[in-house]
Amino acid sequence: MIIGAPREIAPGENRIAITPDSAKKLIGLGLDVHVEVAGEHRPAFEDAAYEKAGAKLVGSAAELYGAADLIAKVQATDSREVEMMREGSTLLCILNPYANLEIVRALADRGVTTFAMDLMPRITRGQSMDVLSSMSTITGYRAVLLAALALPKLMPMMMTAAGTLKPARVLVLGAGVAGLQAIATARRLGAVVEAFDIRAAVKEQVESLGARFVAQEAIGGDAEDKGGYAREQTEEQQAKQREVLSKHIANSDVVICTALVPGRRAPILLTTEQVQRMSPGSLVIDLAAEQGGNCELTEAGEIVDSNGVRVHGPVNVASDTPVHASQMLGRNFQNYLTHLVEEGQLKLDLEDELTSGPLVTRGGKVVHDGVRAALEA
Ligand code: NAI
Repeated sequence: MIIGAPREIAPGENRIAITPDSAKKLIGLGLDVHVEVAGEHRPAFEDAAYEKAGAKLVGSAAELYGAADLIAKVQATDSREVEMMREGSTLLCILNPYANLEIVRALADRGVTTFAMDLMPRITRGQSMDVLSSMSTITGYRAVLLAALALPKLMPMMMTAAGTLKPARVLVLGAGVAGLQAIATARRLGAVVEAFDIRAAVKEQVESLGARFVAQEAIGGDAEDKGGYAREQTEEQQAKQREVLSKHIANSDVVICTALVPGRRAPILLTTEQVQRMSPGSLVIDLAAEQGGNCELTEAGEIVDSNGVRVHGPVNVASDTPVHASQMLGRNFQNYLTHLVEEGQLKLDLEDELTSGPLVTRGGKVVHDGVRAALEA
């Protein structure tokens, strides 16, 4: 079976789903690995490193897609790539299916078997295949570095001969994987950190990192689903949350937003009015920008200035750390392929939720219930 890793064509995408190291491991499983020549378009790993690992370098996308039984890529395919895929072939990627319904339809029409790595079940056996956790680890870390450089203050307290500098105050909204990493990074830089999440289970994790869990009274009883994700809050719950968080937002130098609800627009946690009550020079770093943003003012890929408070809406943040991002993705893809492949061939056990959970299209149909419902709607 030939596994193909094409050059990523999305603008600014520097990551790759197969690294030289994971290529070597996949070859050890009896698979052939083909990688499209990328030169300087792939800053993470040189073409020669793949050759050294035993992979075959292929000169064009058409050649790669034409030969591959399975394509492993980071970003969802676009329509030109779907046309190049062989009928009956398999695709593994971060599909973001609810935002890419047309591509999902095109993949089904093409007879492609598609696994959305971003729909991996959050169960213990799936942890080493979980691309969302991998990328959130990087985005949470980078959000704090972005804030540290953009803030007109230092993060740590400093007692100097020229007087004492107060530490920066950072508020992290949403304390999942990205939020916890942001808390840990801001603490390491010496900031005073507060955090909030609607899932009560998070409080202990927040406190163990040296941050204060705030606005506990805004937590509802049924905020967590059986998959470990947050449920969408009612408008009433969200209004209460905004009210309780207001004073914490106003007192913060930096608000880092990471709150997401899978398959939905990100919840609004910061209104324009709340941003305007922050001190001039303060920052909002909205990691939820690609899902609509946690702040009313957020524009994806832009910095919006509102009365001297800058609202950053960074996109594809993990791609700016291409080596470690690809290293983590490479390992996640490799582990999932190890799960799917037996004796050099795909062997799909649809009774296993690790196989069926991320499966979106198969046999010309959209087989994932949630995605099919979204398409029909
Ligand atoms: P996520 O990226 O979907 O959401 C980020 C955070 O936003 C979550 O903690 C969520 O509770 C929070 N949130 C949603 N709506 C909010 C609101 N209105 N206000 C404040 N916060 C809000 O989630 P993520 O970070 O990918 O994972 C969430 C949890 O899933 C983790 O903390 C962990 O417990 C669990 N998990 C389990 C794994 C496993 O067992 N394989 C792997 C990764 C995560």
